[in-house]
Amino acid sequence: MNSPKSASLPVFPWDTLTDVTAIARAHRDGIVDLSVGTPVDDVAPVIRAALAAASATPGYPTTAGTPELRASIHAALQRRFGITGVDPAAVLPVIGTKELIAWLPTLLGLGSDDTVVIPELAYPTYDVGARLAGAQVLAADSLTQIGPQAPALLFLNSPSNPSGKVLGLDHLRKVVGWARERGVLIASDECYLGLAWDAAPLSVLHPSVCDGDHTGLLAIHSLSKSSSLAGYRAGFVAGDASVVAELLAVRKHAGMMVPGPIQAAMVAALDDDDHVAVQRERYAQRRAVLLSALRGAGFTVDHSEAGLYLWATRGEPCRDTVTWLAQRGILVAPGEFYGPAGAQHVRVALTATDERIAAAAERLV
Ligand SMILES: Cc1ncc(COP(=O)(O)O)c(C=O)c1O
Repeated sequence: MNSPKSASLPVFPWDTLTDVTAIARAHRDGIVDLSVGTPVDDVAPVIRAALAAASATPGYPTTAGTPELRASIHAALQRRFGITGVDPAAVLPVIGTKELIAWLPTLLGLGSDDTVVIPELAYPTYDVGARLAGAQVLAADSLTQIGPQAPALLFLNSPSNPSGKVLGLDHLRKVVGWARERGVLIASDECYLGLAWDAAPLSVLHPSVCDGDHTGLLAIHSLSKSSSLAGYRAGFVAGDASVVAELLAVRKHAGMMVPGPIQAAMVAALDDDDHVAVQRERYAQRRAVLLSALRGAGFTVDHSEAGLYLWATRGEPCRDTVTWLAQRGILVAPGEFYGPAGAQHVRVALTATDERIAAAAERLV
């Protein structure tokens, strides 16, 4: 073997939390784990029934997804997010969006001559995906930082993981116009679009952003958080018909198919907005409890106007804050996982049961 591929990748960040996890676990009333952000609420009965009903199907699924799933994706984008004009052929299910993000630069054929722009504070897989393809990475939040070059791919993430920041209409329009002039492909990771609290996030495919023209635009959507389907691995991408067709062409060869029963479960999830509203309300209540508890304990909470996290600081190095919270049995993610700009913040996930969230709030008093 030449040099192992893993050598080109960063240390897996969560592996660095072993010591503080042990501290938090030692709390007499048990750990409150607000670190990874994994859903804890049961999958909705309507989705489980669809999964069970499809569980006897023995055959291979198709990479493109069933006609029912493709239609459900199309309809949900319009109904939930006001996204009109999506070419019915320009939707593609993926095995969770982490998979798509990690392999997108490779699937697009990018290499060492190409640059991938990622947000300064970002979900780590954007960087990993660029590295897997051997592409260059530039962390930049403003177009002036990018300069005259034309990167091959630019990731947007609004609402942001980790900060909960929402990009406004003017900003999105500016980036789309800039990308179009230069032929830059935009991949907009919109997995928290439905979790809006104090702001109204917009899809890059929304007509007010792109004037109904999806050329050079991809929207990436996950069912992991909106429908608590992280364990099912269910997401999709939609947008520029020629790019989606290219992704499909490569993914067919690479065996990247969403399992058939999961496709059936996705249809049920996408067709039903009630369970999404119930889940959103659970997170709204947990957010209210944690927000006031953190502020009461002297934290400043920045951004966090949407999404699944509170972006909090005590004005000290983030690892100190992580330890301080672990001593109270609360495990959170250090902001440095998401880039140097997070050095003094921690990311507090809203994903714990109501009972555990209440326990965390009590410990912060
Ligand atoms: C910004 C962002 N994008 C993508 C993902 C991946 O989600 P999944 O692979 O579960 O669809 C996550 C997961 O936390 C995320 O925070």
